[in-house]
Amino acid sequence: MADIKVTIIDREGVEHVLDAPTDMNMNIMELCKAYELPVKGECGGMAMCATCQCYLESDTPLAEQSDAELDMLDQAFYVKPNSRLGCQIPISEEIDGIVLRLAPEAE
Ligand code: FES
Repeated sequence: MADIKVTIIDREGVEHVLDAPTDMNMNIMELCKAYELPVKGECGGMAMCATCQCYLESDTPLAEQSDAELDMLDQAFYVKPNSRLGCQIPISEEIDGIVLRLAPEAE
């Protein structure tokens, strides 16, 4: 399976165009960590910490947010209408070309 392109805009406004494998069962939080971008992913991808929050800046259609994700974003800081949890976005061919901006760190 081919890699897809994922663009992550970091907190300094720098764009990182990443090659993301679709066959490794990874999500956006894990991808950012693999590329050493400053995403903590403290809860390990359980939708329980919001340190992987990012803003969806492309019109990429994503699956609906789970109740767990919506509950977590309800309690998080800097939440916008286009906020998503990176750990809840699986890397798949459907999101090729996605653009995400990292949300500010809460602490
Ligand atoms: S890593 Fe904790 S909510 Fe995504």
